[in-house]
Amino acid sequence: MNSPHKIYLQPTPVRIWHWLNAFGIVTLTATGAQIRFPEYIALFGSYKSAILLHNTAGLVVAASFSLWFFYYGLVARTMGKIYIPTKDDLQVGLLRQAKFYLLTYFLGWPNPHHPTPDNKFNPMQKSAYMAIMFVLMPLVALSGILLTNVSPLRELVILVGGLKILVAVHFLLACCLIAFLFTHVYLATLGKTPMAYIKPMWTGWEDEEPGEHPHHPA
Ligand code: HEM
Repeated sequence: MNSPHKIYLQPTPVRIWHWLNAFGIVTLTATGAQIRFPEYIALFGSYKSAILLHNTAGLVVAASFSLWFFYYGLVARTMGKIYIPTKDDLQVGLLRQAKFYLLTYFLGWPNPHHPTPDNKFNPMQKSAYMAIMFVLMPLVALSGILLTNVSPLRELVILVGGLKILVAVHFLLACCLIAFLFTHVYLATLGKTPMAYIKPMWTGWEDEEPGEHPHHPA
């Protein structure tokens, strides 16, 4: 095979969103852990300072989410194409990709998915990222905003069952997000080298992997 071709996979707004988001979510997780378990965790000093940092990180994540939404929805207009799995993805692609992660990866076989700028996610990524970005993130944010308990929202909190239920919902949703994060970071290290997929999220450019090259048939 000749020298690897580079493809531009991650436009600048996506990279800015992704790392602001990652930094924000990690901060939310650490401060959230202190707020939930103050008797065991005191990473950020007082309870009050943990809450202040948690709320600030929430704002950062909300602002970067808007950047993601604005970019994919209004500028690139590729949100549906990139993030919504096709019938074929669901019927055969999901299973093929799961088989790779569970078995053939360990036998040294190549990844069955070859990203291109307008089809950069494999069927598992599409399904997971769709659930995270369209369902989980908005719900965690909404439950978090309601928990700030400011005046016009207070009545709404009472309507959804009170503060206790809301705290439990926000915590459970956050746990789902953290479970995704562990899987996401593990899968992100399965390239040719551990950084092979992580670097492109920083530079934008990815080396094509061996296998069929859609644009450059071998
Ligand atoms: C903290 C460490 C993190 C690392 C090392 C990491 C790594 C990566 C890498 C390497 C990619 C590019 C490969 C791909 O497109 O799948 C990616 C994409 C993505 N990550 Fe992460 N990530 C992190 C945190 C997060 C968090 C906290 C979220 C969401 C809650 C997230 C959501 C996403 C999404 C939605 C994409 C696809 C973005 C796009 O191209 O439109 N990541 N991540």
